[in-house]
Amino acid sequence: MTQIEYPAALTNGRQRSEILALMQNRLDDQRYQHCLRVEKTARELAKRFGQDVDRAGLAGLLHDYAKQIPNNTYIDVIKRNGFDLDLLNYNRGVWHGLVGTWFIKQEVGVTDHLVIQAIERHTTGDPDMSTLDQIIFVADFIEPARELPIEAKARVAAQTNMREATLIELENTLQYLIGQRKVVYPKTLLTYNAFIQIKE
Ligand SMILES: [Fe+2]
Ligand SMILES: [Fe+2]
Repeated sequence: MTQIEYPAALTNGRQRSEILALMQNRLDDQRYQHCLRVEKTARELAKRFGQDVDRAGLAGLLHDYAKQIPNNTYIDVIKRNGFDLDLLNYNRGVWHGLVGTWFIKQEVGVTDHLVIQAIERHTTGDPDMSTLDQIIFVADFIEPARELPIEAKARVAAQTNMREATLIELENTLQYLIGQRKVVYPKTLLTYNAFIQIKE
């Protein structure tokens, strides 16, 4: 297998091996392996849809960097760094995307706007998601270890149509949250509305 390396401009000069070591400090092995699979899947999708393979790979690799940061740390960071305090009404499911990038910038040193945006949007979505954003959103859902029928359906859609794959995932996210009586971040609903209207 050829070794992946990222352009220094995207990583502030950090080698991928250094990034992997930083990730291993923050993530258990299961989550770390998931990130590696999302990286690979995102690179494949980027190739398929003519997007920047390195940005997709790096965003896929780092998307869950902050997934296991404790709630209290998140709450402190939200309060002290000018984040919208409304975020405190939500949970780490929302925070690890929107606020997670704060840790990525601080600890990993990746600041590329398009990489950061794709990571910010990977859990909540965004009505204006770019194709690159959709690739990270969907890669997370269809990486090879995902085996549910809805995930398989999104994987098939992602062969030809990122918007359709994104919509399948949005449907699933909303159904899951409502089924579990969990709070829905309003932007996720706005994203669903935007994508369903595009489709119609
Ligand atoms: Fe995530
Ligand atoms: Fe993930």
